[in-house]
Amino acid sequence: MKIIRTPNEWQRERQRMGSATVGLVPTMGALHAGHLSLIRKCRSENSITVASIFVNPTQFNNKQDLSAYPRTFEDDCRLLEQEGTDILFSPDYTDMYPDDFRYQIRETELSTRLCGATRPGHFDGVLTVVMKLLTIIGPTRAYFGEKDYQQFLLIKGMAEAFFLPTQIMDCPLVREASGLALSSRNRLLSEADRRKAPKFYQALSSGKPLDEIQQLLESDGFTVDYVEEYDGRVFGAVFLEEVRLIDNVKR
Ligand code: PAJ
Repeated sequence: MKIIRTPNEWQRERQRMGSATVGLVPTMGALHAGHLSLIRKCRSENSITVASIFVNPTQFNNKQDLSAYPRTFEDDCRLLEQEGTDILFSPDYTDMYPDDFRYQIRETELSTRLCGATRPGHFDGVLTVVMKLLTIIGPTRAYFGEKDYQQFLLIKGMAEAFFLPTQIMDCPLVREASGLALSSRNRLLSEADRRKAPKFYQALSSGKPLDEIQQLLESDGFTVDYVEEYDGRVFGAVFLEEVRLIDNVKR
């Protein structure tokens, strides 16, 4: 696997590829089996698979959350290599933000609901960095997980709104046997919270009315950010201590 650090370096590499199909899997690292399922799907549909690792500061609306975000670059490289990733693009802040975030992409409706309601500016950061990644890499297809379903919908909408040539692909949510959605943030949970966390999925998928789901979660010791229905799915965000978990299930 070749590691590329700057957009210029990528341009030189890209010229050598000719008309090969390129698939992109954007990540913030701390990789787990959920991320790797995206890599696998990407590999099966494109001749070149590019993964990116960039912990994007502009999508963290809380400095503490950014500094606590797990960083496991060496392990990530090993996992990506094992999965047959061709290229890892891992830029630093000044390469991605020569403008220091003066220019931003913003959606004005869906981005203010669900996770957007309590994380102001979060989706501006996500859409802006994804737009930059899509523009730099110029992939045929880009892969996103249904774990972050709201994010997927917003990115798909952005690609349509700006006539981007990349196909936005969605990938199923990967769970552990307990039902807990795999997430980089799970490794920040204390042992006791780690045991409690599967109850989040169990409540969301219980089929109960939303207010009962919320009560159930609260009585189990979760701090509920929201439980809401949208687009035929139940979405939720909860805190265990200061760790924020999200999930969604088809209704
Ligand atoms: P990150 O949280 O690292 O996730 C990278 C991709 O992996 C996202 O598309 C996410 O939906 C997917 N993913 C994470 N956990 C998953 C799971 N359990 N099952 C299936 N897919 C899963 O999402 C981001 O990074 C960032 O916002 C990013 C898009 C990279 C922009 O900075």
